[in-house]
Amino acid sequence: MSETRTRIRLCATRDVDWNGALKVETGDLTLAVFNVEGAFYVTDDACTHGPGSLSEGYLDGHVIECDFHNGAFDLRTGAVVAPPCMIPLRTYKVIVEGDDLLIEA
Ligand code: FES
Repeated sequence: MSETRTRIRLCATRDVDWNGALKVETGDLTLAVFNVEGAFYVTDDACTHGPGSLSEGYLDGHVIECDFHNGAFDLRTGAVVAPPCMIPLRTYKVIVEGDDLLIEA
C-alpha cells in the first residue's frame, strides 16, 4: 500500500534565525524548525521526555538540548544523544523552495 504525503509550507527561510529555532504550529502539528549554519531541520517541538519545547532549547551544532532536564537529540536523525530522553524525536523531510520552507508529512 502506498503512503500519501502532503507538502506543508511552514515559514520563510529568513524567519528562522541563523543557528536558531522557530516554533511553528500547522494543523495538528507543533514543530520546531532549526537553522544550523544555513541547513534546515524540522522536528516535533515537544520533547519526547516531558513538557519541554525544543524550539526553546539550547542548539549546539546538530544537537538540540531540552531546557527542561537537559536531554538531547540529534536533529538529523532524531536519535537520543543524552538522557533522560529515551524515545527518539520525530523528524520531517525538509524542502526549500525559493524562500519557502516546507515539509512532507
Ligand atoms: Fe525534555 Fe525532560 S522534558 S529532557
